[in-house]
Amino acid sequence: MTGGRVRLDGREVLAGVDLSVGAGDVLALTGPNGSGKSTLVRALLGLLPLSGGRTEIYGRIPSRFRDWGRIGYVPQRLPMGGGVPATVREVVASGRTARQSRWRPASAADRAAVDHAIEAVGLTGRARDSAHLLSGGQQQRVLIARALAGEPDAIVMDEPNAGVDAGNQEALARTLGTLTGEGRTVLLVLHELGPLEPLITRTVRLEGGRIAAETRLRTAPRAAEQTAGSPA
Ligand SMILES: Nc1ncnc2c1ncn2[C@@H]1O[C@H](COP(=O)(O)OP(=O)(O)OP(=O)(O)O)[C@@H](O)[C@H]1O
Ligand SMILES: [Mg+2]
Repeated sequence: MTGGRVRLDGREVLAGVDLSVGAGDVLALTGPNGSGKSTLVRALLGLLPLSGGRTEIYGRIPSRFRDWGRIGYVPQRLPMGGGVPATVREVVASGRTARQSRWRPASAADRAAVDHAIEAVGLTGRARDSAHLLSGGQQQRVLIARALAGEPDAIVMDEPNAGVDAGNQEALARTLGTLTGEGRTVLLVLHELGPLEPLITRTVRLEGGRIAAETRLRTAPRAAEQTAGSPA
C-alpha cells in the first residue's frame, strides 16, 4: 500500500499509509483502539475502497485480484452466530470453497485439508459439535481453522487473542509457529505480542490513522518476494 487513505462517514480514518508486507513476514499491527488497525487490514484486502493512494495484492489491485485462495482472513468480530447451527467441521469446510472448483464436490484432498486445519487448532475432538456451543476462544480457533482450510500463502487475523484465555493463546502460538515454519506470511492485529512475540518479525504501530513506529525484530524466512500490500 502506498499513501493509502480511507474515509468513513466523512472522517479520514487512514491518513496516508505506506506498508508493504513481504513473503514470510510475521507482522504485528498494534496501536490504540480506534487508531485504524482493522480499517487498514480491510483496505489491504480490498474490502474497503481507498479514497487516496493505491494498494496491491500479489501485484494486482484488489478489483483485479482473483487468487483469493492464497489469502485467509480471520475478522475481528465473528459473523458466525444466528441461522442454522453449523458443526465445527462445516464451518471449517466453508473455508475450502475458494480452493474448490465450483462444480466439483469436495475431493479427498479437500477433506484432508479440512481435517488437518481442525487438528492444527486442536479441535479434532469437537469436529461434530455445533460451533455456536463452543467458548469464545474455541470459536476463534474454528475461524482460524476455516482460514487454514484454504491452505493460504498469507493469513490475516484481526485480534485473534482478544478475550481469549492463556491456554487458547498458547494454542494459537503453536499453530502460528507451524505456519511460519512453513514460510507462510502472517499479518496480525494485536494489542500485546504476548506468547506470539518469538514469532513476530516486524511490528507496525498505528496512531490516528498513521504509522507512528515500525520495528524489525528478526529477518523473515523468505524476505525476497513481495506479497499482500506490496507497492507497485
Ligand atoms: N463503518 C464506519 N463508519 C464510520 N466510522 C468508522 C467505521 N468503522 C470504523 N470507524 C471509525 O474509524 C476509526 C478506526 O476504526 P478501526 O476499527 O479501524 O480501529 P481499530 O484500531 O481496529 O480499533 P480497535 O482496537 O477498537 O479494534 C474509529 O474511530 C472508528 O470509530
Ligand atoms: Mg480493530
